[in-house]
Amino acid sequence: MASSSDIIHFLLLSLSLFSVSCLSASQSPNTKPHPFILPIKKDPSTNLFYTSLGIGTPRKNFNLAIDLSGENLWYNCDTNYNSSSYIPIACGSKQCPDVACIGCNGPFKPGCTNNTCPGTAFNSLAKFIFSAGLGEDILFISQNKVSGLLSSCIDVDGFPSFTGDESPLNGLPKNTNGIIGLSRSNFSLPIQLALKNKVPPKFSLCLPSSNKQGFTNLLVGSVSGDPFKELSKFVQTTPLIVNPVSTGSVSVKGVPSDEYFIDVKAIKIDGNDLNLKPSLLSIDKKGNGGTKISTLIPFTELQSSVYKTFIRDFLKKASDRKLKRVASVAPFEACFDSTSIENSVPRIDLELQGGVHWTIHERNLMVNVKKNVACLAFVDGGTEPKMSFVKASIVIGGHQLEDNLLVFDLASSKLSFSSSLLAHNTSCS
Ligand SMILES: *[C@@H]1O[C@H](CO)[C@@H](O)[C@H](O)[C@H]1NC(C)=O
Ligand SMILES: *[C@@H]1O[C@H](CO)[C@@H](O)[C@H](O)[C@H]1NC(C)=O
Ligand SMILES: *[C@@H]1O[C@H](CO)[C@@H](O)[C@H](O)[C@H]1NC(C)=O
Ligand SMILES: *[C@@H]1O[C@H](CO)[C@@H](O)[C@H](O)[C@H]1NC(C)=O
Repeated sequence: MASSSDIIHFLLLSLSLFSVSCLSASQSPNTKPHPFILPIKKDPSTNLFYTSLGIGTPRKNFNLAIDLSGENLWYNCDTNYNSSSYIPIACGSKQCPDVACIGCNGPFKPGCTNNTCPGTAFNSLAKFIFSAGLGEDILFISQNKVSGLLSSCIDVDGFPSFTGDESPLNGLPKNTNGIIGLSRSNFSLPIQLALKNKVPPKFSLCLPSSNKQGFTNLLVGSVSGDPFKELSKFVQTTPLIVNPVSTGSVSVKGVPSDEYFIDVKAIKIDGNDLNLKPSLLSIDKKGNGGTKISTLIPFTELQSSVYKTFIRDFLKKASDRKLKRVASVAPFEACFDSTSIENSVPRIDLELQGGVHWTIHERNLMVNVKKNVACLAFVDGGTEPKMSFVKASIVIGGHQLEDNLLVFDLASSKLSFSSSLLAHNTSCS
């Protein structure tokens, strides 16, 4: 459950969300849709992923953590940051979805402006929900210079209380200074880019394993000759499900979730279905249950009852296969002598809507935690929601997504996925 201090922040911000209506969809006449390809790197200490893009005048490069569930792009416009092309969005303007208004005692700079529409600086790993200023500035995305997109900026240094684990940046890779959100929200970068370029929103994501580089293509649109054509023969498709209940930090009646859910019908270990209550795999009236995809957790989290069944069945199959179990290494439970597991790890498949299977490759299943010890890379997600009022039963995390090409097509609400590219002797790098 959210703590009482979280609730106070929920209330403060409850006015400011979920009524996004007018984004400027102005289009420069001569630009054809083209891909916006951003590099992705993995942070070895948090096992999270980030990208890099430029903002403002003079251009400053920011590393931003990648959050599939994130509603917008927000960055730390710290004390030394004073972009001359920054335009705060005025309260009550067409672009401002909110009735609230923020101000600042000055001196003027991004993150300290008067009569400014609030935006959010949401980080599901932080302890609180932070309000930032909604603004517009030039973004440098791969070779493209893009203006007219909305983002939020917050001066983290400007608030002495934002230190340590109280910071809006808590839990993110040390070298990052904000979040790039890729959710269905109208403020997310892929959606804003698609609207601006008048193409259907569609983006791909390929997370690298280790320190090799992956990529994200924020806007595929109708581009021909995209770099994924040759991989398309491996790709399977399943519907993206909309959870009708908001799963964010603020619960607003009748507002659906911005996050990406898929319909996992069964989990198979070596071909046998896990015996789970069907209600856990579907989304109930209150928005609980179901399976979502997240890039802001390193390892897949299973709600406790799913987790217990999963570990028990996995250990049984592992013992049938003569894997040598060793002492657990937190947060993992099922650990093995890695010299005993070569190519004999039990096979895990997610059976998805549309009759397709997502086979989790051995490299996505196990994680090497120390010399000769590999653990099943799934963790107990508990029973209570974090920074939200609802809880998914399965949250597929970064390790399980690595070296999988994922294409999110929001117009047709479909997810295409490759399963592991390693099985095809290629990778995200
Ligand atoms: C997002 O933008 C679209 C197109 O402009 C609009 O139809 C839709 O209502 C907006 N969604 C929200 C939640 O405001
Ligand atoms: C930031 O730059 C503006 C001019 O673009 C200037 O008016 C303002 O004083 C500067 N703020 C700070 C804190 O240096
Ligand atoms: C905002 O308005 C207040 C009150 O008028 C003023 O004292 C302050 O300097 C202004 N801040 C900025 C950044 O202009
Ligand atoms: C991948 O490479 C290995 C070794 O080079 C080879 O044995 C295997 O057949 C290849 N697999 C595919 C799908 O091309």
